[in-house]
Amino acid sequence: MKPGQTCRWHAFPDQVALEQAALRFMLESAEQAIAERGVFRLVLSGGTTPRRLYQVLRQAQTGWSAWHIYFGDERCLPAGAPERNSHMARLAWLDQVSIPAAQIHPIPAELGPEGGAGRYARELAQVGEFDLVLLGLGEDGHTASLFPGGAWEGEAWLPAAIPVLDAPKPPPQRVSLSPARLSLASRVLFLASGEAKRPALMAWREGQPIPASRICPPAGVDVFFCFDGDPAHRANRP
Ligand code: 6PG
Repeated sequence: MKPGQTCRWHAFPDQVALEQAALRFMLESAEQAIAERGVFRLVLSGGTTPRRLYQVLRQAQTGWSAWHIYFGDERCLPAGAPERNSHMARLAWLDQVSIPAAQIHPIPAELGPEGGAGRYARELAQVGEFDLVLLGLGEDGHTASLFPGGAWEGEAWLPAAIPVLDAPKPPPQRVSLSPARLSLASRVLFLASGEAKRPALMAWREGQPIPASRICPPAGVDVFFCFDGDPAHRANRP
């Protein structure tokens, strides 16, 4: 029998409160991992919710030299394309802090879905358990690039990174980590903000089998959510 998912739900009144809590969660995870193992292996998500968190992380005081960055999914576009998740993370955060370049591990999605997935799966074979996996939630319940109805759903076994050929969210070609690889983590944190996420979140809480519910790390997952994700709200921030 497949292990089920344990969820801890955390509701926040607005996007700013969610970000502050996510920032604390990340920095505490980093501190603990670095104290225990000397490294912090973090998997990043794409999407607009984490982008705002990444911008806040620029100012964080932490041992950046111990951080190792991986990605949960990537869009198959040329290296450096602005729509790539790794490009967004670099621009918002990674290029502004002193994480050694060799410790940033983008998915080589410029090789195409199969080539990129194959190479990243080989790279991940050298990496143990992640310390923290950050994930988003799509309006259709997808997470990383695991979309409902995708070919991955029917497979009993998947490699660590898989090609995605027909994503409904553009671009259609992507590389995603598999549910099992995303679940090989001490902590998993989902970030979902905005009214548009309400139906997917409700379906998930009711126990419906959406892609996000396939992420089953032994310690369970934390889901930080707010329905006030209006960017106008943010424009009023100091
Ligand atoms: C991507 C992501 C995707 C994203 C969700 C949520 O390539 O876009 O990896 O899984 O995290 O779609 O995105 P938003 O935060 O923008 O709603």
